[in-house]
Amino acid sequence: MITKEEWKKIRGSKKSPDHIMLSFNGDAAKSMTVTWRTDAEIDAGYALFRKKGAAEWKKAEAEIGRFDSDMDSSNIFWAHMNGLEPDTEYEYTCGNDEYRSEVYNFRTSEEDPKVFEFLCLTDIQHGAAEPPADYSELNGIIKEILKKHPNVRFILTAGDNTNCGQTDIQWTGLFDGLKGIIEHIPFMMALGNHDDMGFENYFEYKNKYYSEKAEYFSKQFKGSYPYNGPDGWKTANYSFDYGNSHFCVIGTSGPEYINEWLIKEADTCKKTWKFGSHHFPICYQGSDLSCEDSYPMMREGMEKFDVIFSGHEHCFSRSYPRRNDNLYDKPSEGTVFYNMGSGHRNPCRLLATPKLWNCAYYPHEEEKSMYAIVKSEGSRITLTSYLEGDIAVDRCVIDKENDSICPVARAPIFSATRLMFKGADLGICARTLPCEMIDGTWFVPAAVLFRYIGFDVTLEKNAVTIEAYGHKATFTENSAATVTESGNFEMSAAVRRMHRDQLYVPADGVCKAFGMRCEFFERNNILSFEHESEFDPVPTR
Ligand SMILES: [Fe+2]
Ligand SMILES: [Fe+2]
Repeated sequence: MITKEEWKKIRGSKKSPDHIMLSFNGDAAKSMTVTWRTDAEIDAGYALFRKKGAAEWKKAEAEIGRFDSDMDSSNIFWAHMNGLEPDTEYEYTCGNDEYRSEVYNFRTSEEDPKVFEFLCLTDIQHGAAEPPADYSELNGIIKEILKKHPNVRFILTAGDNTNCGQTDIQWTGLFDGLKGIIEHIPFMMALGNHDDMGFENYFEYKNKYYSEKAEYFSKQFKGSYPYNGPDGWKTANYSFDYGNSHFCVIGTSGPEYINEWLIKEADTCKKTWKFGSHHFPICYQGSDLSCEDSYPMMREGMEKFDVIFSGHEHCFSRSYPRRNDNLYDKPSEGTVFYNMGSGHRNPCRLLATPKLWNCAYYPHEEEKSMYAIVKSEGSRITLTSYLEGDIAVDRCVIDKENDSICPVARAPIFSATRLMFKGADLGICARTLPCEMIDGTWFVPAAVLFRYIGFDVTLEKNAVTIEAYGHKATFTENSAATVTESGNFEMSAAVRRMHRDQLYVPADGVCKAFGMRCEFFERNNILSFEHESEFDPVPTR
């Protein structure tokens, strides 16, 4: 275990600026913000900037914020270089009179770019408690991507930028790995669950906690990103514009407040494209994920956006346009949920399985990075997800003028009601056992559903007993009474014997007995069950 004094010599803050990062915090054609760090003794700083080749430097005084972390005390500086000319190369330095950075350069956005590209990265987290967290591999990976895609104008992440964001060791590791990159190209981060995660003792992984207000992230980037998120949840949530596009970066806490903000952002936005970045995938590809904190609460806000980028699963998937629990074909009809693979050779540890709500997926299990390039051309965008080496995994073109997505993928419309669990079609398990609505109640072949998930089911001649998610319930033919370990309750209707001699249980009874959620995708004729648990059951032996 390392002491603070020892750490100070390794990646601790010093009098000279480090952690130098560009970001948008204003008009991307006319301003640029630079962030840097020094030790706590340096109490003032500024950026000098000029058009490349110009004689005179201009000065931008920096705002300062104190950042006391688990290993260090430092000052963070944010200088806003304003009054810039569009589509122009600038050079800049940062620091104070005595300690200054070297000279770096950047290019402002065109006034109204007709074509631009950005790079989407997610889950670049890496390393363990032992310092120094090593992000040097990431440096080579991103530089290689930018070499192959030189028109990329900024980087947008979908969270899990670090493996444990409530530790100084991780952030300093990430910044070390981004050297030579983010001094030149704006780096717009979304928070992931690992970015506000901490341990009271990081070295022994003891007493894990989540910083609801993402303390370390907020302290470091308060002045980097627009301070325009919902009250009480700024910095973790912010929005910015680039060209004809509006971006909302969506944090991982306070979904009820964020939803209101998203609705307002989308309703007042005049841009052609509305993009969101939120760490947790809504149309997830894993077998056992849950997004109970994100989707039901933020559904209305999110579904006003064209594309929501996400990560977390470390595997790629792309949804049909989805709105109000229906899957569509045209971009005007819903939101495309775009779930990206890990950008740091950290492939999926979840079992990616085919999902009815996704029209494309790739079970990313090779030790390679994934990333996405978005090319915007007026009313058309091309999203391409790559495996390291620029191997395309998925490419789609969303065209607002023709209201089309290419390649064509038609969302299914079933003739008999399909049963779906966490997005997965029960498939051959339920091939002759459709759900049915009778007198306003959905009836479900409950034994088949729970056996599919992996729970224990006991069948008797006139009853079915299911043990799932810590509860046990018995459903009896011709009875609306459900017998559970914690008492009985009445369902909306009695259990019926239906297709293939199976007992069909009212869906409301299933949900109440096991704490599940059920939605009907009316357009597609799908009855969908979800549970917040990410537990993977297997039959008891
Ligand atoms: Fe992750
Ligand atoms: Fe995550």
